[in-house]
This record gives sequence, structure tokens and C-alpha cells, in this order.
Amino acid sequence: MLEVRAPLKVILFGEHAVVYNRPCIAMAINKYVRVKVKKRNDSSIIIRSKNFGIELRKDIDNIYDNSLPYVTTAIEEVFKYLDTRFGIEIEIETEAPISSGLGSSAAVSVSTIYSILKIYGYEPKKREVSNLAYNVELKVQGKASRTDTYISTHGGIHFIRGNNFERINSKISLVILDSGVKRSTRLLVNMVKRMYEKDKKIVDKIFDTISEITFEARNRIERNEDISDLMNMNHGLLYSLGLSNKILERYRFEMLKSGCYGVKMTGAGGGGCLIGYRRDYNYESVLKSLRKISKFVAIVSTENHGVVALSEPGSSS
Ligand code: PMV
Repeated sequence: MLEVRAPLKVILFGEHAVVYNRPCIAMAINKYVRVKVKKRNDSSIIIRSKNFGIELRKDIDNIYDNSLPYVTTAIEEVFKYLDTRFGIEIEIETEAPISSGLGSSAAVSVSTIYSILKIYGYEPKKREVSNLAYNVELKVQGKASRTDTYISTHGGIHFIRGNNFERINSKISLVILDSGVKRSTRLLVNMVKRMYEKDKKIVDKIFDTISEITFEARNRIERNEDISDLMNMNHGLLYSLGLSNKILERYRFEMLKSGCYGVKMTGAGGGGCLIGYRRDYNYESVLKSLRKISKFVAIVSTENHGVVALSEPGSSS
């Protein structure tokens, strides 16, 4: 049995503006998708998803399944890459809510691809894993950005412009709260597109300001300085694009009240997760009060490693 984990991510600055060629900053966090995989002696593919409570049994020649599109497409993609097929048993577990902007689908693809390559005896390069996982996202979603798959594969904090990823050497701790509102990135990106088409001049200025904030945030993160004001400004601009709602604002207020100095939505908005920040703070009291109002609250920090194997193929655990 081989065990692999790939980190989830948060976007610290620049979401949505990044779709319009501005930069963003994303960070891998110490919450993971964990995959356990072993080879089988027959031609079955058995997939267990702990979060969805699903067990699938497929044949090596007919793997794709609508109920688990990322895992099944990732397995197809690896077999195509290796130009071989073999039976496997794979179990997947995500340590955070799905569809909340933490990049769980990318981390599922990354960990599945990495684990199958390793169990085959192939030592994958990070670049190969991240490219294969990006192909999976393209196939499943039709359109995708490289951010989630890259961050989950490589770990760390990155300043991202187009396809250019610059690592920022620093460490940040945050508190994450899930609003419990599921949302679709595609619909929210389309909503912003409509606003952009209607009020291009104004929305371009909003994106320019988000871009300024993101550049300044990079400097401050590099120098380990406070970023709470910049987070609040970025949230305000996302709000101005219609990406917040009553529920998110209520949670945001509670996070500020509990002791965070900077709070913003992360990712597409409309629901999903909020991130709270206070420099050099241990967040224990924040956690205690927020646990009363949300099912998922966690203290997280930068995960500097990307996807890693926790055991070697063939070990008995
Ligand atoms: O919420 P997420 O993790 O799907 O992030 C979406 C980020 C956007 O900037 C809104 C879209 C994108 O592809 O960058």
C-alpha cells in the first residue's frame, strides 16, 4: 500500500482579477487530499471516496465515471501516459469541505496521478505531475487555470502571472472558515464577465487596484510584514463586484469580532471559505468562538512541500 498526500490551497490575493491578466498570490496549506493505492492482480479498478461515501468498481478498459470525474479521468490520463493499464485499488479522502474554493479537485487529480506513477515504479518529476493534473482539469471542466494543480504539486506561496509562477519564501498562518454555501466557480466567473462587459472602464479600474494590492502584498509577505489591511481592501473590491452576500458578510464580521484583523473571501466567492489573519497570532481563541458558528474552522499555515509519498509502495500499512 502506498500513501500519498497533496495539499489544498487558498488564494491570498487577486482572484478574479487573475482571469483578466492581473497577478494573484496562492498558497498551499497544511490540509490535504490523502490517497492510498495498491496494485491488483486482476483488471479491476476499485475506487473508494470517503467524503462522498462511494465505492466504484470499474474495468481497466472503461474507467471514466460521472460520479467521480476527477479520479477516473486522472487514472485514464496516467495509463495513457505510461502506455499501460493495470488493476488498482484506490481510496481517497479530503480533509476539508468540497466545492469551497480550496482546490480539492486539483489535489485529488495530483495525488491520484502521483500515486499511480509511483506504484508503477516510475519516479515522477513535479512538472510531469502538474501537467497531467492540468490536463485532467481541462478534460473535466473544459476550461481551467493552472493555479490549483501547480500549487498542489509544488507547495509553497506563489506570485502568479499568466503561466509564470514565482515562489515567495515565507510562512503565513491563517484561520479558515467554511460558510457552508456551495458555489460554482464557472458561474461566478461568468457573472463577473457580464459585469466587465457592461462597465468595462470601471471594472478594469477595480482589477487594476486589486493588482496594486497583490504587488504590495508580495512585498509585505516577503518581508514578513502585516497584510491584514490589504486583505480587507481586496475583500472590499470583490464585494464591489457582487461576489459577497449576506451569509459571507455575517461570517466575516464574526471573524473580525473574534480577533482576526484581516478577513477576506478566498477563491471565487459567492460562498465557500473565508480566510482570517492576524500577524504572529496563535488563533486558539478565534477558533474557539468560530467553532460555535461553523462546521469547518481550522488554523492552517503554509505547506512548503507539494505532493509527497508518506510510505513506499509495497509497505504493509
Ligand atoms: O474558488 P476557486 O478555488 O475555484 O478559485 C477561483 C479563482 C478565480 O480567480 C475566480 C478563477 C480562476 O480560474 O482563477
